Amino acid sequence: MHTILVTGGAGFIGSNFVHYMLNTYPDIRIVNLDALTYAGNLENLRDVESDAHYVFVKGDVRDKETVDRIFENYGIDTVVHFAAESHVDRSITHPEVFLSTNILGTGVLLDSAKRHWSLRPDDKYCREYQDGVKYLQVSTDEVYGALGKTGMFTETSPLSPNSPYSASKTSADLIVRAYGETYGLPVNITRCSNNYGPYQFPEKLIPLMIHNCVQNIPLPVYGDGMQIRDWLHVSDHCSAIDTVLQKGRIGEVYNIGGNNEKANIEIVRLILHATGKDESLIRYVKDRPGHDRRYAIDNTKITTELGWTPKYTFEQGMADTVQWYLNNTAWVEHVVSGAYQNYYKEMYEKA
Ligand code: NAD
Ligand code: TYD
Repeated sequence: MHTILVTGGAGFIGSNFVHYMLNTYPDIRIVNLDALTYAGNLENLRDVESDAHYVFVKGDVRDKETVDRIFENYGIDTVVHFAAESHVDRSITHPEVFLSTNILGTGVLLDSAKRHWSLRPDDKYCREYQDGVKYLQVSTDEVYGALGKTGMFTETSPLSPNSPYSASKTSADLIVRAYGETYGLPVNITRCSNNYGPYQFPEKLIPLMIHNCVQNIPLPVYGDGMQIRDWLHVSDHCSAIDTVLQKGRIGEVYNIGGNNEKANIEIVRLILHATGKDESLIRYVKDRPGHDRRYAIDNTKITTELGWTPKYTFEQGMADTVQWYLNNTAWVEHVVSGAYQNYYKEMYEKA
């Protein structure tokens, strides 16, 4: 039985991953370490909280003692590291916590994994680890920076991050790489495009626009709305991570994407249409500083080498996602109460 440490499992992708893994494998155990920041929500995991194969630990990935204790108490053999500050707009106003959580947190996890999995932890030349262990870093296509009108990111594209968020994720990737090279730690890095689906905090484009449509609040479109993102349903991201855990060659980076490039304004129009609202709700607002113009993922490596393919078409994925937010208004109302209101005022009403 594998015991997987999932960090950030109460967030958007992490909680979908916990569900995905418990539904897919009857014989695994998941330990979810999450600090429950504004983005972490245990309501995402209500249905698994009494599952004997699932354990929740409230704690910070930067806290070495907590991380060490988890390795010792649960016999962790796999780490899937999601926990991060993940929102570009917040990284522009408050970069410090991004550097601390995303970079130092990754360092603490890697170090604990190395010490607990090494066959000779006191020997600096030891490159041998317990059988079957793996550390997987969940990264992002944003580490490659921005594209012009043509081209796609491959795993060998230069790392050229533009925001404090993407710079912190890039730094973390480089530390993971260093642990692989210097200590021989069995690592993989995955770099996925923009995700959408259930349980996404409504500060990100798609859930924010759905929520505003439902509430008849203006839809804030940055700049000309022609920035392009490459969208993937979160359950396809989860199956890709699972594939890399099983089959990924040690030390390799795998891009994950579903070939769904869309301009932001197309997404906004689709959501308006799906919720029965009209375009008078659209408000073009001041652009994000340093806004990346276009992302596009070349997924050839993971599809040809590991045989992964996404299951969702963009049309089906979006239809299901809009419906999920319409069906789960209690979840949405809970997460947008309190601190979200202050965030929204600061972000959109003072601009
Ligand atoms: P999220 O913001 O929804 O969730 C982050 C989770 O991490 C939350 O539960 C939060 O409480 C937890 N967390 C934050 N700081 C922590 C700390 N110091 N210690 C422990 N837990 C902490 O993020 P998400 O969208 O689910 O993204 C998860 C990961 O996937 C991130 O690493 C992100 O960079 C990466 N990623 C996201 C996308 C996307 O489109 N959302 C795309 C590619 C990669
Ligand atoms: P976001 O969901 O924040 O993801 P990322 O910045 O990581 O790609 O934003 C997706 C795109 O939508 C991005 O180009 C910024 C744009 N956007 C808006 O136009 N208005 C908004 O209110 C938000 C949150 C995003």
